[in-house]
Amino acid sequence: MPLSRDAALNIAKVLSEALPYIQQYVGKTIVVKYGGNAMIDEELKNAFARDIVMMKLVGINPIVVHGGGPQIGDLLAKLNIESKFVGGMRVTDAATMDVVEMVLGGQVNKDIVNLINHNGGRAMGLTGKDARLIVAKKLKATHKTPEMQAPEIIDIGHVGEVKHINVDVLNLLVASDFIPVIAPIGVDEQGQSYNINADLVAGKVAEALKCEKLILLTNIAGLLDKQGRVMTGLSLADVDALIEDGTITGGMLPKIGCALDAVRNGVKRAHIIDGRVAHATLLEMFTNEGVGTLITNEHL
Ligand SMILES: Nc1ncnc2c1ncn2[C@@H]1O[C@H](COP(=O)(O)OP(=O)(O)OP(=O)(O)O)[C@@H](O)[C@H]1O
Ligand SMILES: [Mg+2]
Repeated sequence: MPLSRDAALNIAKVLSEALPYIQQYVGKTIVVKYGGNAMIDEELKNAFARDIVMMKLVGINPIVVHGGGPQIGDLLAKLNIESKFVGGMRVTDAATMDVVEMVLGGQVNKDIVNLINHNGGRAMGLTGKDARLIVAKKLKATHKTPEMQAPEIIDIGHVGEVKHINVDVLNLLVASDFIPVIAPIGVDEQGQSYNINADLVAGKVAEALKCEKLILLTNIAGLLDKQGRVMTGLSLADVDALIEDGTITGGMLPKIGCALDAVRNGVKRAHIIDGRVAHATLLEMFTNEGVGTLITNEHL
């Protein structure tokens, strides 16, 4: 059926609205973190892959970092291995680490690579072990309850933090018009594997490449206040207060932490956006619609 004149004009308007954004970001690298929770629905997955291909085709260089919490949880449940979390991080013993590596590096990574390629992109999957992309060290997690005077340090196993990102392989891929898709598994100097929260990896990759933008797609509208309203333009002190009073918990803790770190270390803007909305990335990149929570260094 042919479009009505109004509908056609509207499409032209939306496309034209994208021009200044394309001009602003052409040739720039953008890191997109794709959350495990937002990548279950087939339609959303396809929309995400198309957004990434579209970015690349208009001359922007996307790098995808993915999570996979729900997928790891599913396989652990099938294997009767219990899932435990401390401060939003998965407690990872040796058996859990094997599952994490299989699910993230195998199933989830290749699924995203396949989807992007199926939609016409040139994606290439990597874990932090490939070309020693992610050099990790063991994360010293802390835990504190209101009754405790000082936080205690707890051992959560093979959970790592990023020590260093070797950007060479990323630069090589981006320069050859590939789209890197990174599974958040790190490796230390001894060759030990680490499970790293994908938000932390995305933040550090964005920092290492001094990216214009870090987009964290998740399964919620953004950072919410106690009444469930999306908050934006927060200062460091605001975030600290929200953590202290228990508004920010679980998986939002590393997410907000890495967004703050990224903008402190040279990334211009970090966005936490709702991956349950189809084409959330496209909307964020190319329209005047402000979706989700924005953090820039103006607020810090
Ligand atoms: N103040 C808050 N505002 C919004 N979400 C919050 C807040 N505090 C805690 N959360 C939780 O953080 C979750 C998002 O983090 P989560 O780690 O679960 O998802 P993800 O990072 O997108 O996926 P993955 O960890 O698999 O990569 C939300 O679904 C919500 O339950
Ligand atoms: Mg998470």
